Parts: sequence; structure tokens; C-alpha cells
Amino acid sequence: TTSVTVGAASLGFTAVAKSLADIVAVPSGYAVTVLYRLGDPIAGGVAAYANDGTDTNFSKRAGDHHDGMSYFGLSASGTPDANGNTRGLLVLNHENISQPYLHPNGATNPGGVRPEAEALKEMECHGVSVIEVSRSANWAYVPTSSFNQRITPLTPMSFSGPVRGNDSLKTRYSPDATAGRGTINNCANGTMPWNTYLTNEENWVGYFRREVGDGARRAATGAAGVKANTSLARYGKGESNTGGNYGWSTVRPADTTSTAYARWNITAQAGAPADGTGDFRNEIFQYGWVVEIDPFDPASTPRKRTALGRMNHEGCEIGRTIAGVKPAFYMGDDAQNEYIYKFVSATPWSAADATAANRLAIGDKYLDTGTLYVAKFSADGSGQWLPLVFGQGPLTSANATYSFASQADVLINTRLAADALGATRMDRPEWTAVNPATGEMYCTLTNNSSRTVASADAANPRAYVDPKTTGGQTTGNANGHIIRLRETGDTSEATTFAWDIYAFGAGSDLDATNINLSGLDATNDFSSPDGLWFGLPSNASGTIAPVMWIETDDGAYTDVTNCMLLASVPGKVNDGGTRTVTNTVGAATGSVTTRIGKAPGATLRRFLVGPKECEITGIYSTPDGRSLFVNIQHPGEGGGPTNITSSWPANQAGAVATPSRPRSSTIVITKTDGGVVGL
Ligand code: FEO
Ligand code: CA
Ligand code: CA
Ligand code: CA
Repeated sequence: TTSVTVGAASLGFTAVAKSLADIVAVPSGYAVTVLYRLGDPIAGGVAAYANDGTDTNFSKRAGDHHDGMSYFGLSASGTPDANGNTRGLLVLNHENISQPYLHPNGATNPGGVRPEAEALKEMECHGVSVIEVSRSANWAYVPTSSFNQRITPLTPMSFSGPVRGNDSLKTRYSPDATAGRGTINNCANGTMPWNTYLTNEENWVGYFRREVGDGARRAATGAAGVKANTSLARYGKGESNTGGNYGWSTVRPADTTSTAYARWNITAQAGAPADGTGDFRNEIFQYGWVVEIDPFDPASTPRKRTALGRMNHEGCEIGRTIAGVKPAFYMGDDAQNEYIYKFVSATPWSAADATAANRLAIGDKYLDTGTLYVAKFSADGSGQWLPLVFGQGPLTSANATYSFASQADVLINTRLAADALGATRMDRPEWTAVNPATGEMYCTLTNNSSRTVASADAANPRAYVDPKTTGGQTTGNANGHIIRLRETGDTSEATTFAWDIYAFGAGSDLDATNINLSGLDATNDFSSPDGLWFGLPSNASGTIAPVMWIETDDGAYTDVTNCMLLASVPGKVNDGGTRTVTNTVGAATGSVTTRIGKAPGATLRRFLVGPKECEITGIYSTPDGRSLFVNIQHPGEGGGPTNITSSWPANQAGAVATPSRPRSSTIVITKTDGGVVGL
């Protein structure tokens, strides 16, 4: 094992060049194995994937759009194994679908009544996979493992925490507001030290249809209906946004008693009870949560952890755990000008919980009771965690914008509460990750086309025009940045912090004074950071440098390169200094002083470039760091059956003679000398 100090230039590979090729490229000395593809069977008796749009039974196949992912070592007796380097459970999200490729000729009747079989397939391609994986000579998943399962938008869920039983969750399916069906648009994740997996609901709003007239019907029911209208508007579901991705609510199911499709239309039904128990007007309030899954117990019911708030949840990662100290969980709300949050458990950490057998009960202990905070960044490099606690400050019934009635109301309307507290509006907070050596928290701010010269601030300091060779220009914070913070006193319980910006995304050709502020060059220039994870191995004293892995989901730099994975050995908050940036967009100009980390130089390096039209998403490794699992999401997403724009992964081993429909897939990367990946 390599022994290095934190911040040392210890990466042990040659940077991969930017690329537009339709293949996963890694440094020399590394091998790529395609492990788990869209449609791969995970139970006995399920046919091999035809990949021509005719396949069915996706509750027993890999879903689409592989995203956040964790690996849990598995012992011979089927229990968690912290040293399980050759056998484990891989748990991964299926965020969304590339709809055209799922059907023989693309979607049938996309604007009208959808066929039930197509809608069912599309639903079942969302959710989560739990699969057993093992390594003999090479890694493979175990197609008939009893641990394999799919969690989909149809899987029963239970509500936990302060919102359980609240009137806002009442539906025809769950009149007592304690249960729900499914999870959707599961983006990033969290890996709990007690061996559970958090899957987070991100862009759930778009799946629901809301018809014009719904607002008036809700308002007519009284104060609760008026509040629901305010809430729906704040979460992007005003009446002008009738929406309803994929038209699932239009299905006329063969089983006329089924409400599996109707629930995607949240319009209040005429004559239905105002409390929501006769229709699905409240179905949308059942989404937007962090969901905890016990991957070792397929019979368990996932729990929606309402104490962590309701938003476009991206990741939810736990900070360092120290016995006797209350743990913190860091979260981004991925939409333009939304916030960064942390939840601090009411219960101090007990190390014995890491090996407890009653895993979801341990989750109850740490995730159902505590305090949710939202971040406010100040120009002087300090920051505050503002508590979202009912009855404190503006979070009372007297609030003029929204009359808060309870802590449950604050949590359902987390964004309205954070607005009231004056938190800092960020450039789309995506994944969070905590450096195990320092405890510092990093958060990707992927980009923000609505950031203006006037709204730029110290923590979101750039607004500019990024020219592209094809596809026009992008403006605002076109390339994103990565912010980091250090809790005061290095404790997860702190309510103040210090911060700086670890790195700014930019093409290396852009203005070095005002845009390429981190001095990126051809070996490490990137745009739109998204996935973020501190790799293994690491130890508490930091004598083995944790590598921070950065994944991109980019639209601004894709004229030059496909999306990528970079490795970094970052320093610490305030290892750089201040920098004044002059922003220019058209006639508007202005200056902002920000806090910037030391230029990364050779401590940041491009490790992988993906195939065409993909995004690089989930990432995790075996405990020894020698096998790195990475998700390749939506290759060829711009195409369809008659216009196949990527043949990945069929072409990973060599060019294919005829185009093959692309498949989101998990890959595993190993070093040919058997060493730790990246070092
Ligand atoms: Fe699903 Fe914010 O990416
Ligand atoms: Ca993401
Ligand atoms: Ca993204
Ligand atoms: Ca995506």
C-alpha cells in the first residue's frame, strides 16, 4: 500500500486525454469489465436481454440510467463483511429512462393514452437494484442470488420520522398517511456505517400531471388547500406545469381497480373528500424524500426518512462518525438557486451500531430524530447552519408567505422554510462527500445558467459566457465549481463553518484571470462536476491519502469531450486565498471577491472518459480500493431505434458491425498489477 500525506501529489497514473470516442477510456495499466447492463436478468427463468424493445419483466432485470451506487462486502454466511473484497452486494439507483430504446419503435402514442405494458416497463426501469457480485478471475454479478432484488415505483414503502401520519401524506392508497408506493428519480445515494443504503428522490416533480383548475379546487377546500397551492408552486408544480413525464396517468389498466397509473395525476377529483383520502391529490407530497434500504434483507420495507426534509434530493452522505458525537448528514437540493443542507442526529454515535443486525432500527435511531439545517455562506469565508425548526424565527404560523403549522409542515416545505431563513442560493448543489482524513465536506455545484452578474456572490462568484464550437454558447456559471467547508471545532454538531472553493470547472482555453480560476490544463480540465466520492483505502490518521473522485454531467464542454471521471488528492479549506473575479455577460459587468483553494495542478487528473452522450455517475469500491465500480448513464441518450447514436457497451471490446442499442451499465475498473485504483 502506498503511504502518502494528505495533499501530496500521489496519483499514480497518466492522465487520459479528452475524447469524443464511443468507448470508456482509462489509463494504461487499467482494465475495464462491463458488469451489469440495462435489462440483465437478476432471477432464474428470465430470458436473456434481446435489446430490441421487446423485453418485458423489468422487475427482474436491471433498470435503466444507473446512478448513485454503494458496495457492501458480503460474508460467506450472508452478513455484512467490512473486508469483503471479492464478494459483495452492489446497490445502485436507476434514475430515469432512455424511453425510445425501451420499445421496438420508440414510445407508442406519447402525447395520448399510453399502452399499459409500455408504461409498466418504463416504471419498472426506475428505482434501485440490489445485486450480488463476486470475483474469481474477473468480476461478475450472480444472476440467481437470493439477495438480488429490484425496488421500483411500485414497491411498498413506509414513512418514518416527523411527517409520518401527517394529513399531507393521505391518499386513497394510504388514508392513514403511513405508507406509499415506490420511489422515483433516484439520483445520488448515501452509504450508512450500519450497512444500509440511502436512495434519494431528485426530479420527482416532472412525473406528476396537474390539470388546470386544480388550484381553484384546492383553494375551495379552505386554508389547507391554499397552502398546498403555495407549496406546489414553490416545488415547480404550478398549474402552468401540467407535465406528467411519459404520460403514465393516461393508462387505462386491464385491472380497472388498479390505481398504479392514476396516482400520477394529482388533480383534485370533483366530489372527492378534501382530506385527500379519495384521490391522489397528495401523492406528490409522498415524494422528494431520502429513502433507506436494508440491502441484506430483501423482505424488509424501505423507509422514507422525513426528518431529512423534502426537496430535489441529490446525495445524502454521512460525515465522520466519532463515538459520543452526534453524526451529520450532508445533502444538496439539485435545482438552480437551491440550498445545501445538513441533518444532525439527536443521538450521539455508538460504534457498536456499525455491526448491529437490526439495521433499519439503527436507521430509526439516527435518521428520524434530529435537527435539519440549511447553509448560509458569508463573504468573509465563514458560514452558518440555520436550523429549520418549527416555532423558531420566521418558521411560525405568523409567517406571511406560508403559515407553518408544525415541524412536519416545515419538513414537507423545506424550501419555503429555507427561503424564510435567508439561506444562500447555490449553483445547483449535487453530490456531497466528506474527506475521511480531515472531516471537511465537499459539494459539487454543477452549473447554473440563471446565475447573473448581479446575483453572483462569494460562494457562487462566476457569471460569464462560455463559447462552444458547436451547439451555441452557455452563460451564467456554465462550468460549475466544487465548494468545501470545515466545521468549527471539527465537529459534526457545529452550527458555524469556514469555507472555500476547491476548484472551478473550466476549459483550459478559457480566460485564466476570470474563468479558469483554478488553472486547469489539458490533463484535468472539466465542466459540470456532479458525482463526488472519497475513495478507499483511507485511515483516521490520513497516512493513506483518500482520493476524491469527481464525475461530470456536462452540456457545456461536450463539444470538446464526453463526460469524465477525475481523481484528486485535495488539500484543505483555506489553503489558497482570496481572488477577485470580474464577471461580464453582454453589457453587464461586476466584480466579486471569493475564496479559492490552492491550484490543484498535478493533484487533479483525468482518470476516465465515457462513451457518447453519457454521464458518469455512481462510484464505489471494494474495501481494499482495488476494484472500482463506476456507472455509465444514458449513453446515446440523444438517439432512438432508427438513429442509434452510441453502441456502448457492445463496442467496448471492439467496434461492432451494426449499431447496437446503448445500455446504461455498471463497469468495474481494476489495475492490471492488482494495486489500488488511482494510486
Ligand atoms: Fe440526478 Fe442532480 O443529478
Ligand atoms: Ca447527479
Ligand atoms: Ca447532474
Ligand atoms: Ca442524469
